[in-house]
Amino acid sequence: MSNARYPSLHDRVVFITGGGSGIGAAMVEAFVAQGSSVAFVDVARDESLRLVERAAGPQKPLFIECDLTNLAALEAAMVEIRQRLGPIAVLVNNAANDTRRAFAEVTEADWDFTIAVNLKHQFFAAQIAAQSMREIGGGSIINFSSTAWMIGSRRLTVYAAAKAAVLGLTNSLAHELGGDNIRVNCIAPGAIMTERQRRLWFTTEADVAAMVARQCLPQAIGPEAVASAALFLAADDSRMITKHCLLVDAGLR
Ligand SMILES: NC(=O)c1ccc[n+]([C@@H]2O[C@H](COP(=O)([O-])OP(=O)(O)OC[C@H]3O[C@@H](n4cnc5c(N)ncnc54)[C@H](O)[C@@H]3O)[C@@H](O)[C@H]2O)c1
Repeated sequence: MSNARYPSLHDRVVFITGGGSGIGAAMVEAFVAQGSSVAFVDVARDESLRLVERAAGPQKPLFIECDLTNLAALEAAMVEIRQRLGPIAVLVNNAANDTRRAFAEVTEADWDFTIAVNLKHQFFAAQIAAQSMREIGGGSIINFSSTAWMIGSRRLTVYAAAKAAVLGLTNSLAHELGGDNIRVNCIAPGAIMTERQRRLWFTTEADVAAMVARQCLPQAIGPEAVASAALFLAADDSRMITKHCLLVDAGLR
């Protein structure tokens, strides 16, 4: 599937967290194809280096290996991106970890890690990126939520709590930053059939079919469909859209 062309994304500096695989990788490829100047961080080194090789566009993406539960490392990566590519105009807060755990077995350390990897970095990345965006007269922040918390999912309670909080974060940041012409929106994906999801949770065609049967639209959703939504929210075509949560779920919810 090819995407619409967005002239406003050409040469725009786009920073994507967790861009090495899954939906993040689809977004890296989609922004690179628009001629954007893309940087991403990830812990998955090999997958990220393969992505840099295959990404096709006028400029190769910049990969920085970084565990963003370490906020100092995240800040250092963002400083490096600013030095090498220029001020960040688009921040995509995508990185996450949806490891399942039985309710009774969740420890305090699990809770802290799950919040750190799914929520905390979104706030601090926005705080740092907003400085760059103010300098260039505005920007777009796209936070990743999930339909998991809207539906309610067993073994994902802490993840769901973090992803629900992303909506509150988005709404408050939209007010906080709107005066600086910085838009803040969120995307809530449904069941997106990334390689990881297929490997861990949707291992058979019957698993996929059972999920599709819960949707209004009768097709499995690929990561490119989410990337299309991110392009729109990053481009000037959505210039008057902020404080919005866009569900890409084929009507699952
Ligand atoms: N795939 C789905 O069905 C689905 C559904 C709802 C919401 N989402 C959300 O969409 C976004 C992308 O989903 P996905 O399925 O591609 O995610 P994913 O679990 O495959 O991981 C995203 C990326 O983040 C990276 N990452 C994980 N921990 C990191 C860390 N500490 N530091 C740096 N990078 C790290 C991973 O290596 C991976 O490349 C996430 O925010 C996720 O919660 C996905």
